[in-house]
Amino acid sequence: MNNFDFYNPVRVHFGAGQLENIGEIASGLGRRGCVVSYKDLGPLESVCDRLIGLLKQKGITVFTFFNAEPNPDISTIELGAEFCRDNSIDFVIGLGGGSAMDAAKAISAAVYYDGEAWNMVYSRHDEVKAVPPEKALPMIMIPPLPATGSEMNQCSVVSNRALKEKSYIWAECLYPKAAVIDPELTLTLPSYQTACAAADSISHVLEIYINGEEDTPLQHSFQEGIMRTVIDNVHLALAEPGNINARANLQWAATCAINGWASPGDAWTPIHQVAHNLTSLYGIAHGASLSALMPAWMKTFKSRRTSRYFNFAVNVMRVNPEGKEETAVIDEGIKKFEDFLRVIGVPVSLKELGIPARGIPEIISGVRTVSFNGEDVLSCNPPVTAEDLRLMLENADPAGEI
Ligand code: NZQ
Ligand code: ZN
Repeated sequence: MNNFDFYNPVRVHFGAGQLENIGEIASGLGRRGCVVSYKDLGPLESVCDRLIGLLKQKGITVFTFFNAEPNPDISTIELGAEFCRDNSIDFVIGLGGGSAMDAAKAISAAVYYDGEAWNMVYSRHDEVKAVPPEKALPMIMIPPLPATGSEMNQCSVVSNRALKEKSYIWAECLYPKAAVIDPELTLTLPSYQTACAAADSISHVLEIYINGEEDTPLQHSFQEGIMRTVIDNVHLALAEPGNINARANLQWAATCAINGWASPGDAWTPIHQVAHNLTSLYGIAHGASLSALMPAWMKTFKSRRTSRYFNFAVNVMRVNPEGKEETAVIDEGIKKFEDFLRVIGVPVSLKELGIPARGIPEIISGVRTVSFNGEDVLSCNPPVTAEDLRLMLENADPAGEI
């Protein structure tokens, strides 16, 4: 096992009805709060009205910055920071999925950041590294979508549409002060968003499970538990959208998948690094960009880590290994996983996303620019080269001739 330092200061208020306590939770953070959410609130409008009412009851002056687009752009972050500075905001509340929460986090840091906000973002940029922010406004996160886990981590994923890049800010000051994780807020989530969220949560642990260190049995058990919980409960939530228990289990699994507990010392996310390019080049939703790649990734790299894939088949996909060759068990596990993704309604190929074979070199070049390390490989165990990526993307069944 690798050595690690672990720190996570986020106070979690979990459970149905927790939104009611937001006034109390926020009142320690100041008198002027800014709610950051989507341009089009849709079904979240009534949640937002309740939130604002509860804050006002505690004498808090509420400002709103409803400009977060899916995969928030760095220009939005700069605007939001200016808005907070102009209005002397004391604290920020992110209401929404990863896009709204990450916008809230990046804005909170950009308020104090000296220089261009994009410099906060980690990106190889031909060896130019990020200068992470050191200070941010205090934040509260309220996720009505159980996916990114942003509510309890120190990451904010930001896009730069002008550069066609997507990468992340990683800084201790991005830990929210509190997360209000209320499964009642997820009841309005449409089926497709519910399924994309499940794919994202699974990916956060699956990637480390199949690409990370050996000899970390506790981490692997935790990862397996998260994957099984998501698989079982997404079926329930899709069949009965009002099933609050299933929604609660999906939310807690999503938070635990990426708050550091499941994978300390082992943080490989190579599939995310490729998926981010599908978003920046083709505007694909985050969860769908991952589901389209996961089966191909597993088929391409299964022979490099047979024990990991065998355990995945048996412990996560519940394949009965009795009397079967190891390779047959592995293949059955991957097939069951691909079928699961299909059944919940997310794409399992590039073709379904309209991504053509001729787009593969540009995707690889994007991954290289942002995510390859100094040795020109994608960090994971074992590392992945540009040629490996080409094979994997071809296995992901793009549209048109390869
Ligand atoms: O605009 P509408 O149609 O209303 O749809 C919203 C939103 O646009 C809808 N939605 C959210 N909550 C809802 C709801 N609809 C009905 N009821 C509700 N309760 O969902 C749409 C998608 O939201 P978005 O915030 O974009 O989704 P997600 O949570 O998947 O976030 C994706 C972003 O998070 C980043 C991704 O890269 C992407 O930018 N990530 C952040 C991470 C982090 N900070 O640690 C890690 C992740 O791996 C991820 O990279
Ligand atoms: Zn993700």
